[in-house]
Amino acid sequence: MSAPVAIAWHRRAPALAPSAQAAEFARLLDSDWRQGAGAREVLRRILTTVDRDEVEAVRAAAERTLLDHCGDTVRLRGLIEFSNRCVLDCRYCGIRRGNRAVSRYTLTLDDVVACARWCAGKGYGSLVLQSGERRDAAFVRRVEAMIRAIKAATRSAAQPDGLGITLCVGEQTEATYARWFAAGAHRYLLRIETSSPELFAALHPPEQRHETRLACLQTLRAIGYQVGTGVMIGLPGQTVEHLIDDLLFFRDLDVDMLGMGPYIPHAQAVLPGAIPAADERLRLGLRMIAAARLLLRDVNIAATTALQAMADDGREQGLRFGANVIMPQVTPPRVRRMYTLYDGKPCLDESAGQCAECLDARIASVGRRTLRDQWGDSAHFGRR
Ligand code: 5AD
Repeated sequence: MSAPVAIAWHRRAPALAPSAQAAEFARLLDSDWRQGAGAREVLRRILTTVDRDEVEAVRAAAERTLLDHCGDTVRLRGLIEFSNRCVLDCRYCGIRRGNRAVSRYTLTLDDVVACARWCAGKGYGSLVLQSGERRDAAFVRRVEAMIRAIKAATRSAAQPDGLGITLCVGEQTEATYARWFAAGAHRYLLRIETSSPELFAALHPPEQRHETRLACLQTLRAIGYQVGTGVMIGLPGQTVEHLIDDLLFFRDLDVDMLGMGPYIPHAQAVLPGAIPAADERLRLGLRMIAAARLLLRDVNIAATTALQAMADDGREQGLRFGANVIMPQVTPPRVRRMYTLYDGKPCLDESAGQCAECLDARIASVGRRTLRDQWGDSAHFGRR
């Protein structure tokens, strides 16, 4: 186990002149290292090198892998944060149950359907329904009603099956997952937050269990969902070795989708312990995207809002490092500020329309195309 936080990514690799060394590294990245015993070492070098030429070799290899396995389209999922009520108390999260400073809201069914119609009108192929976690019967019914209403409202000539729906509403029973799947949701995002049970225990109260989350991921897969997970990057006590474990965990779980982003402290939810500086966490976030792209090849990977919170062009950088999904904010601006998981959340005041315009230009700026009127499923799921 390596030392916590003040870590290896400062270490400059010795020997050879940079370009020759980077060329050798680029050849290594092109070789067949993914399943072998050497995978850890390659991933460590991807995450820790500070040599500019090597970083560019990583970025270019990740971009090439993306283009080869998934094409050049960026898939949009309109993000509807439909409620910030939450029964969990994750120590890092601004909307955790224990934060009394937050006003709580839940959007009406009509509000949610209006957001969905707007997405369909803009040609967004899919949307994500995200909220704080609840498991009561009223919540389960409400989510089911939202799924059915969105499907009914968004069927069109362009999208005969309506918008694709990704759920991001946490740990639920098998019966609940099955009910929502039957209603028409077909993807589920449930972040493991960290693959390390010890680190997970430090981030959550004891009643929130790593095993439960793992079991939920298996259940979702068995039901037939396209399954996504992810981690936070730059957490107190997290080492490069943990991040390598996270990547190998994604591989072994055979995930279809990934959403990862830097950890960003929230004023009312600060975890104790040192974390890397902001620019380090951003850099590491991008390296994790590239590493995941190189290791997993054909999964969908989001350039997350947390990246954008750390740099104005954070999501575009994410696309350049191998991401192919963006989740534009479509939550009504009047409640957006109440869904603050971390400080510095971007796009708080822009209307969804402004976000959409700004986004097309941003996607084009990195030489990519926006996929319109299609769900944009992960190629990996199709192949599996
Ligand atoms: N910084 C970064 N990401 C966070 N999340 C929650 N709080 C934070 C934070 N402070 C992420 C978690 C969660 C997702 C919805 O948001 O990974 O699963």
